Amino acid sequence: MTEKHSILRSVGAYLPARILTNDELAKTVDTSDEWIVQRTGIRQRHIAAEGENTSDLAAAAGRKAMENAGVGIEDIDLIIVATTTPDMTFPATAAVVQQKLGMHHGAAFDIQAVCSGFVYAVATADSFLKNGLARRVLVIGAEATSRILDWTDRTTCVLFGDGAGAAVMELGKDAGPGEARGVLASSLRSDGHFWNKLYTDGGPSSTQSVGHVRMEGKEVFKHAVGMITDVVHNVFEATGYGVDDLDWFVPHQANKRIIDGAGVKLGIPPEKVVITVDRHANTSAASVPLALYTAVADGRIKRGDLVMIEAMGGGFTWGASLIRW
Ligand code: ACO
Repeated sequence: MTEKHSILRSVGAYLPARILTNDELAKTVDTSDEWIVQRTGIRQRHIAAEGENTSDLAAAAGRKAMENAGVGIEDIDLIIVATTTPDMTFPATAAVVQQKLGMHHGAAFDIQAVCSGFVYAVATADSFLKNGLARRVLVIGAEATSRILDWTDRTTCVLFGDGAGAAVMELGKDAGPGEARGVLASSLRSDGHFWNKLYTDGGPSSTQSVGHVRMEGKEVFKHAVGMITDVVHNVFEATGYGVDDLDWFVPHQANKRIIDGAGVKLGIPPEKVVITVDRHANTSAASVPLALYTAVADGRIKRGDLVMIEAMGGGFTWGASLIRW
């Protein structure tokens, strides 16, 4: 019996040039570097330039991932963009990215699972590849979250940033049991009863506007650690691996305290946890691929490593995937 899994052949990332520090923010809202660092671990965030849209960030990260994989757009037959901040209500941002990358063939669509978007997209791409619906997928998480923030609301505007990360996914080679690289298992969850804990107060069918991020921070915090550990345990159970087998834990980068809480509950030592929230803040669907890219680029994640990605966000949605790199 051979096993075939969807590998992440490469990753890529893009961050807008403009960096906004906590001290700068403190000049416009009643907050401080000390408060933000202590409660969230965030020190700075990147902000998209005027005229720089989510599709621009996504296309830049996608180009980098293709370059790192040594493939061209002609080798991709599906683009999936996970985003909560599309360029327009329609078409899908993935379609705009398809145009920006010069791709006329194949298919492109968006996934809306807020901060869990990239994990949902990886699981979706994995399914498409295994079912023969696609041969090579460009999976992107991209957000211009700064565009939907209420910059007068200190309880939300200090938490988010803009950016994009991407991966080229394809089926790996046949391998014997336990030897396969790629996505070994995923667990996706949602519970819409929590939609009003984290949402935008606007949308096409309700207010004919975009709205701003609204959040009951304490409620999100209260549920986050339990939901994260739930899906991580599901994935361990499905694969037979356990926390001691893990080389790297690459969590959604919302808040250092949530990451630390999940790490402690799961028994993952801090040196195995990839942290980028200090530099990127919460980039929603872009946060996991940005963190993956960071740890691959600096040489921490190596071929053969066992990597757990996870995320939790608006909906609530949550999910995890275990990947043999
Ligand atoms: N600067 C200074 N003071 C602030 C700020 C700020 N930016 N924001 C809130 N405060 C004040 C509040 O007004 C309150 O003041 P009060 O006591 O006079 O009323 C005080 O700080 C404490 O506020 P809390 O909301 O109780 O602060 P808490 O310790 O819960 O921290 C936080 C807030 C950081 C949002 C926390 O609840 C949290 O991390 N929640 C998780 C939410 C999250 O990370 N969301 C990201 C999106 S969801 C996701 O991606 C999973």
